[in-house]
Amino acid sequence: MSEKYVEKVLLDQAAIKEKVAELGRQISEDYQDKELLMICVLKGAVIFLADLMREISIPVSIDFMAVSSYGASTESSGVVRILKDLDCSIENRHCLIVEDIIDSGLTLKYLEENLMSRQPASLKIVTLLDKPERRRVDIKPDYCGFRIPDEFVVGYGLDFDENYRHLPEICVLADK
Ligand code: PRP
Ligand code: MN
Ligand code: MG
Repeated sequence: MSEKYVEKVLLDQAAIKEKVAELGRQISEDYQDKELLMICVLKGAVIFLADLMREISIPVSIDFMAVSSYGASTESSGVVRILKDLDCSIENRHCLIVEDIIDSGLTLKYLEENLMSRQPASLKIVTLLDKPERRRVDIKPDYCGFRIPDEFVVGYGLDFDENYRHLPEICVLADK
């Protein structure tokens, strides 16, 4: 495994804050007359969920699922594992999956199929980042913060081998 370093800031705190507020406004409007359950995909989406839910002006509850397909690699293994399931039933509930990034799409494809089988009233996806160039399966977010180029990014919840999640910006990681 080659050594990595933070090459540059791709999205700074102000840009993220503005976009998250915009997504929050849009989601609040779209779910106006509904009770929303936000499903955070641990661990990467935890910061995004925390910021996004505070921009939502309608009643909302949250639950968490832990899924992992990346280990100490910048490539998805393609094998999605559920490490922690939801605490609650989602039957007849309006659910919004909250993701930090869609890359190959394998994680969300798996999650979408898995959650749809539990008969929610509706199921949508919000992602902060999307790398459409990398897609290996057909999946599109209902709400997307930023489309980004095919570079490995960390920070604002996103990791490389469990590091860098605490960075307040979204940064590009490069080989030394
Ligand atoms: C990352 C990221 C997304 C997923 C996207 O999670 O947070 O959940 O990969 O990749 P994909 O579209 O190719 O499936 P990861 O598996 O690294 O777990 P983590 O959230 O705990 O870091
Ligand atoms: Mn993740
Ligand atoms: Mg990860």
